[in-house]
Amino acid sequence: MEALVCRKLGDPTIQPDSSETTSLTVSKTHPIPKLNTPSSVLIRVKATSLNYANFLQILGKYQEKFDLPFVPGSDYSGIVQSVGPKVTKFKVGDPVCSFAGVGSFAQFIVADEKDLYGVPEGCDLVAAGALPVAYGTSHVALVHRANLKAGQVLLVLGAAGGVGLAAVQIGKVCGATVIAVARGAEKVNFLKSMGVDHVVDLKEGGVIESVKAFLKTRKLKGVDVLYDPVGGKLTKESMKLLNWGAQILVIGFASGEVPVIPANIALVKNWTIHGLYWGSYKVNNPSVLEDSLKELLSWLAKGLITVYISESYKVQQANLAFLDIRDRKVIGKVMITFDDPKAIASSRL
Ligand SMILES: NC(=O)c1ccc[n+]([C@@H]2O[C@H](COP(=O)([O-])OP(=O)(O)OC[C@H]3O[C@@H](n4cnc5c(N)ncnc54)[C@H](OP(=O)(O)O)[C@@H]3O)[C@@H](O)[C@H]2O)c1
Repeated sequence: MEALVCRKLGDPTIQPDSSETTSLTVSKTHPIPKLNTPSSVLIRVKATSLNYANFLQILGKYQEKFDLPFVPGSDYSGIVQSVGPKVTKFKVGDPVCSFAGVGSFAQFIVADEKDLYGVPEGCDLVAAGALPVAYGTSHVALVHRANLKAGQVLLVLGAAGGVGLAAVQIGKVCGATVIAVARGAEKVNFLKSMGVDHVVDLKEGGVIESVKAFLKTRKLKGVDVLYDPVGGKLTKESMKLLNWGAQILVIGFASGEVPVIPANIALVKNWTIHGLYWGSYKVNNPSVLEDSLKELLSWLAKGLITVYISESYKVQQANLAFLDIRDRKVIGKVMITFDDPKAIASSRL
């Protein structure tokens, strides 16, 4: 099978196989994984999403390290190809989605049936491959951890990126007033088209003045929930907008800078700071993650959320997908597909 293999840690934006310095190679003869337990399922991967974490994993800068060589890739969708003798929930031909620590940038992957989710009728299969990590993270953060309520004010940093755009949409489903922060006219116009209440364009100036002016027009005091996948200076500025009793969701550090949240101010203002590592729920509290993904798939089927895919690439073009992430070009998600995305969208076999 075709698979993207990381043979040494390094820059994934270099064309695979282009020179000695490349970290990624496309293998056309990678072995198809075998069913390894009676309850395992072999899936023909149709679409798999790129997450910022995949970029960090290949660079060797992620919190979890993997033995070389490894096939990167975490969330995916596809079609059941074969099933072990004890599998009861799925049959050959079923559309499914899931996520793994590594291994989805390949034509086939094996998963236990308990880790698979059926993709409901009416869902775009490519979209389902982008759902688990980005939407799962934002849903667990906003719904499970922050218990976001209608009428609360949600401030989303990195709002046009993978987890950010998911947070924006989930915030709207919860009935929150959503303020989005992004850089550049294309992202800002896109976010406005998504029905966001206010968008801050970082190219035009800082967050504080823009958000304060908006809050004034709505007679609102401040921000109740800060969703922060960016960190650095932006977190520092955003803290000046938080209400008494606000919640801070620490999601990631796309800026490269881990922010300092002063405990003395958290004390005086009664803030709650949630550190959230979505993947660790699989080990520590799997039912939260399962319920969350089932709810998200039902929202996708009902059209309450839409996964926006800015670009789909072939596995041979993975470096271009990583370039889009590095250069902050992505709006929503960028994908690797193993078929024509239009054909995958409606495929059931
Ligand atoms: N805690 C968890 O379980 C979890 C799960 C998933 C992701 N994450 C983390 O969340 C962060 C975002 O992930 P993602 O997949 O949404 O990434 P993404 O799609 O690349 O989005 C990141 C966004 O951050 C903004 N940004 C600000 N400064 C940046 C910089 N110096 N370089 C790159 N982007 C910058 C960009 O927005 P503008 O260009 O508009 O400013 C961009 O849209 C990452 O740190 C990732 O590791 C954490």
